[in-house]
Amino acid sequence: MVYFIGIDSSTTATKALLMNDQGKVVNVASSSYAYETPRPLWSEQDPNLWWHATIKSIQQVLTISDVDKEEIKGIGLTGQMHGLVLLDANGRILRPAILWNDQRTSAECDLMRKTKGKDNLIRITGNDALTGFTAPKILWVKKHEPYLFSRIAHVLLPKDFVRWKLTQAFAMDKAGGSGTQLFDIQKRDWSTDLIDQFGLNGHWFPQTFEGTAVTGQLTQHAADLTGLKKGTPVYAGGGDQAANGVGTGAVKEGIISLSLGTSGVIFASTDSPQIEENGRLHTFCHAVPGKWHTMGVMLSAAGSLRWYRDTFSPQDSFEQITKESESIKAGSDGLLFMPYLTGERTPHPDPLARASFIGATVQHTKAHFGRAILEGVAFGFRDILNLMKEAGMENVTQIRVSGGGAKSDCWRQIIADVLKTEVVSINTNEGAAFGTALLAAVGNGHFKSVDQASEQLIQITETVQPSSNQSAYDDYYQIYKELYPTLSSTFNALGKIHAS
Ligand code: XUL
Repeated sequence: MVYFIGIDSSTTATKALLMNDQGKVVNVASSSYAYETPRPLWSEQDPNLWWHATIKSIQQVLTISDVDKEEIKGIGLTGQMHGLVLLDANGRILRPAILWNDQRTSAECDLMRKTKGKDNLIRITGNDALTGFTAPKILWVKKHEPYLFSRIAHVLLPKDFVRWKLTQAFAMDKAGGSGTQLFDIQKRDWSTDLIDQFGLNGHWFPQTFEGTAVTGQLTQHAADLTGLKKGTPVYAGGGDQAANGVGTGAVKEGIISLSLGTSGVIFASTDSPQIEENGRLHTFCHAVPGKWHTMGVMLSAAGSLRWYRDTFSPQDSFEQITKESESIKAGSDGLLFMPYLTGERTPHPDPLARASFIGATVQHTKAHFGRAILEGVAFGFRDILNLMKEAGMENVTQIRVSGGGAKSDCWRQIIADVLKTEVVSINTNEGAAFGTALLAAVGNGHFKSVDQASEQLIQITETVQPSSNQSAYDDYYQIYKELYPTLSSTFNALGKIHAS
């Protein structure tokens, strides 16, 4: 038997997934960690956490599986996108990584637009400057930590730090590269024009590879630590959204996937870069060689439910909360929730946006608040889907759901009703880790192409049709849509007081 390993270094845990050459997930091991929020809007993590968790998860998955290390033919990598890892010339970590959900870089985003012009930025990179992306984070270090900026020798993303520890090779996948916002989206490579104009050094940025390409081999040291074989090839893989696209079969035009994890994403594979002219959607390189993808990202999707549970109802399981909300009518009797707990990206790129419950009365119970969260997140998805339709993807007839939140029947039904679209579940819920193991298997020649692997392995298991609640949600959505424009100046004022 032949096996592949997918490693996913997410914001909260690193997972190692063992897959056999028939695409069956044999075992998964995961090791979790925390991230720091040392100041309002900041979000940081020590890169060593990902490396230690990678070692532990690989060791664990090998311990619980009956495999010989000789049978493991490749490792694919994925992980949280955009995070800035800085190393000096001796490979020392210069500062904690600044993560994708860090919102400190509004001024640097303005500077990028001013330096290059917003339209040019969108034309070259496919995206408007966003606080989440990597480029403004480097410019923030340049301005606020010049003593560190002057020592930068390597710029990596979280997954590529793990890659370097595994192989000693500095390399990056194209999906991750395009998420830095220093990429020429058409050429699928670094934009020397942008790198020069922002006063950065082209030598800091590693060579980039298509998702199925080999980027290096496991060193003896990494082999000793993990229990794998020296020389095992490590494949490029992709940023978590692109790898999740592979893992859910969103690898060709027309298949739309929706992931309901901490963040919420609607994702579409495209054969050429589809750029939304105002840059309100993200356009990146796909992990599928030669393809691109367009997506909208809501920052707190299932993350909103987790916050609610941890803050107000720590004794309840997620199942209890979602079950309880089934007893409440569509629209939660007029209680609306805006899910901007960590600011927002799509459709409102606003780090100062805040979450709110609107419309509470004495009639509202705890169960109403739970349901309002599920519905508010679904309304956020409708905002994203509307933008995609405006950008030309009009014919969305089916959506594939994945991620922890998609386990809830009630939430899937709400999403089908609010989006007025059939929602289907698939036979794998391991998303990005599975996707990147597949990329390694394709790279190793076990499947002809990513399309072929995906067609062969990913099947629909359940279908939810929109119900008669659609029209109630149409009415509530019209009110929801007006909330952000009405409240954004209030959020701004609150943010300013808070920051000072
Ligand atoms: C994608 C993004 C998030 C992180 C989370 O643009 O920022 O999906 O990658 O892991």
